Amino acid sequence: MKVKYAIIPAAGLGTRFLPATKAMPKPMLTVIDTPSIQLIVEEAVNAGIENIAIIVGSNLGVIKEHFSKNESLEERLLQDGKKELYDIAVRTRSLANIEFIEQKVQNGLAGAILAAESFINGNPFAVLLGDELVYAGENDRPSIKCLTDIYDKTNKNVIAAMQVSDENVSKYGNIGLNKEESGVIYVEKIVEKPKASEKLSNYAIIGRYVFNNELFAYLKELTPKNNEIYLTDALH
Ligand code: G1P
Repeated sequence: MKVKYAIIPAAGLGTRFLPATKAMPKPMLTVIDTPSIQLIVEEAVNAGIENIAIIVGSNLGVIKEHFSKNESLEERLLQDGKKELYDIAVRTRSLANIEFIEQKVQNGLAGAILAAESFINGNPFAVLLGDELVYAGENDRPSIKCLTDIYDKTNKNVIAAMQVSDENVSKYGNIGLNKEESGVIYVEKIVEKPKASEKLSNYAIIGRYVFNNELFAYLKELTPKNNEIYLTDALH
């Protein structure tokens, strides 16, 4: 089954970016001229994903407006003969079928994914975290497409990882590896932000995943730690 659904968690308060995020949601911070969340949506769309749930909190307004029609702006650009800019405005609201889902309690990444269960409706789905922007590479294959291609072949959950130095191990989810087969490495264990002395390997989880629907059952079994439920615990 092709992966046509994605979840983009975007409800965090972005406090590490203060003061930039005092009024502006972190996903709206730009890379040159494009909000980072749009780059993430485009990555998903370029991988053939058509239905995207953006999980929002109190920051819903600006993010939703960004992907919605701005009638007066579009009219003005047309009147002024600024066709290229008009096309940009129209494209931004036509990228995909985007639904905004409110994460009512700030209960972490696993809580954000659970909030989209009915939107996902039994389908396999991608999760893309906005904190990581991944260069598509010279052959222009978006990071999430590398994962959906593997899912298409194996029907197994897929996690993207990158190699990090010992001093950065504790900033990320960490994976313990098992056998390698046709360029895909099987994950044996997984732990969230271990001390360097307790690392399973130097592979860190980048915020790109593809899951089949059985993940939801594991998410529901989790016990909160500090009021949050951790995706990594469900994966483990
Ligand atoms: C989350 C995940 C972590 C992953 C990281 C990638 O952590 O829990 O496993 O390595 O994203 O950005 P966060 O950075 O949200 O604390």
